[in-house]
Amino acid sequence: MGEGRGDVADRATAGFRQRYGTEPAGRWAAPGRVNLIGEHTDYNDGFVLPFALPLRTVVAAAPGPDGRWTVWSELDDEPVEFGAEAADEPGRVDGWAAYVAGVVWALRAAGLDVPGARLAIASDVPVGSGLSSSAAIESAVLAALVDLGGLDLPTERWPRLAQRAENDYVGAPTGIMDQSAVIRGVQGHALFLDCRTEEVEQIPFDLDAAGLAVLVVDSRAPHRHADGEYAARRRSCERAAATLGVAALRDVPTADLDAALARLDDEETRRRVRHVVTEDQRVLDTVALLRAGRVRDIGPLLTASHASMRDDFEITVPEVDTAVEAALTAGAHGARMTGGGFGGCVLALVDVDAADTVARAVADAYAERGFAAPGTLTVQPAGGVTRM
Ligand code: GLA
Repeated sequence: MGEGRGDVADRATAGFRQRYGTEPAGRWAAPGRVNLIGEHTDYNDGFVLPFALPLRTVVAAAPGPDGRWTVWSELDDEPVEFGAEAADEPGRVDGWAAYVAGVVWALRAAGLDVPGARLAIASDVPVGSGLSSSAAIESAVLAALVDLGGLDLPTERWPRLAQRAENDYVGAPTGIMDQSAVIRGVQGHALFLDCRTEEVEQIPFDLDAAGLAVLVVDSRAPHRHADGEYAARRRSCERAAATLGVAALRDVPTADLDAALARLDDEETRRRVRHVVTEDQRVLDTVALLRAGRVRDIGPLLTASHASMRDDFEITVPEVDTAVEAALTAGAHGARMTGGGFGGCVLALVDVDAADTVARAVADAYAERGFAAPGTLTVQPAGGVTRM
């Protein structure tokens, strides 16, 4: 994961020079993220606890001629060029460049005068692994355009705008978590976010001091129907909230869960609601333990979150279940799938000196079941979007 192809900032700069024959005016970097706990709670107005990763996407950029946007990415040989007419019509630009056009669209829709620009993008955040490579592109591009245009836009507003790019231009009905983690992350901390009020608290998450590490395992499971299933989960939560007469499932207190479930008449909806309500509580419990400096003790909450995603929300696949079970058997304090589901990554909380053993145990379990070899990486919470 994040395989070495030279420094990512150097690659963005070299790509810019080669493509445009001149120097960039600056470089902006945004990380990927993992979510420690709080899955599918963001669009239910609930709580999440993600952190930014040391893997980054870098955008080298400069003002462009004639108010148009040209974007090159190392994912693709050909640059994509578009003007205001395409940026103003959601869906007109597609593929990876839609995340860039979406940001231009969101800024223009907010009434800001977005400067034309030339951009070159390089990334160490793997695409399609559920580590928010899309939020990383959106956020780095947003930072670049804000700076190049001298736009008056406080960073507190950036996550919503980047989310709008994804929801309304690209058409993915995701919540506010990824963009918040990528923009507001602080090194050595997890971001405790109330997705209704957007209030944040930086929770110290010092793994080194506790002798611990977070092992991230890329399950390499193909994302089967992930988009459709995600949208279906979201609809089911919204319907349940309407039936229960609340604005969002966040408004169902844990103490009232059984009474709420009794008012729902199908078993599948009851399971979905149980996941969201218990998951919100697990985020609050995790935050309380971290505030008390009891990092190791969050393990069982992570594992309970996984069971809830597997049995109640039904968003796991055999590869991620195998990785979680193997990690736990090999001595992880807790393990869970992270991100939207149907593949993506698993995270495991491990003693630093057990990281290799756990990684090997997961690889062995994969080999036994005939799955493609997993990618593994140990991570520490890193900082959010920056100008370099
Ligand atoms: C994806 C979405 C997020 C969030 C998670 C699930 O990562 O982009 O908004 O809903 O899934 O927690």
